[in-house]
Amino acid sequence: MSKITLTSLNKMKKEGRKIACLTAYDASFARIIDEAGMDITLVGDSLGMVIQGSESTLKVSMRDMIYHTRIVSDVSKHAFIISDMPFMSYATPAQALGNAARLVAEGGAEMVKLEGGAQFAETIKLLAEHGIPVCAHLGFTPQSINKLGGYKVQGKDQDTARQIARDALLLEAVGADMLVLECVPADLGAEITARLKIPVIGIGAGVDCDGQVLVIYDLIGITPRQARFSKNFLETSASVQAAIKKYIREVRNSEFPGEDHRF
Ligand code: KIV
Repeated sequence: MSKITLTSLNKMKKEGRKIACLTAYDASFARIIDEAGMDITLVGDSLGMVIQGSESTLKVSMRDMIYHTRIVSDVSKHAFIISDMPFMSYATPAQALGNAARLVAEGGAEMVKLEGGAQFAETIKLLAEHGIPVCAHLGFTPQSINKLGGYKVQGKDQDTARQIARDALLLEAVGADMLVLECVPADLGAEITARLKIPVIGIGAGVDCDGQVLVIYDLIGITPRQARFSKNFLETSASVQAAIKKYIREVRNSEFPGEDHRF
């Protein structure tokens, strides 16, 4: 299997081939995910909840992200590696540049992901100018949980839907190379995916996104609360390896997310 790069991911978008992405935080899962042929491994700050046991992602530090990203990138030979910039690590463009550079140089990330809209346009432009690929993250943004007032679908009304679409177009224009769209109505996910040239990876954003991402612990059904958009693939598979391969297959043939997993 050849190494997945940003060029291969852009080609997949152009050719309409679906992109499969899954989180990993440790060497054992990262290796299995990589060997299964995953396109992208995301070292998500969801590790705050699934590894550290917090209620949110807010306590995750740069040190944590570098530590887990390095472990995952060291064993991954095929998948493209994205690492989350943790809460408050990108409050100013200069701070973002310094911290993104650490995730790349010390962690081995090939792209960094940050949450938020137009207010991060200058930051994304600066990172892009310095050769650091950026994945924007719109819709439900977990680092803003206290502001958003809980886990809620975003973009349900016309005004917020238009705002998310405008932000997506702006962040692409200033240099974002990918977009994660979380918990938005499926028709908004479809519209944004059609309007952007960069790959759009959905989680609770409908089947028409260019790809899908899930948290590995949701996929194997060991998180306390299964969100509507996620699916336990281990229930119908004989092993973790088989469950991950089933997820990849269902993403590739647009079987997942089904009607039950959309908003
Ligand atoms: O932190 C994470 O795992 C994420 C995904 C759920 C998109 O951001």
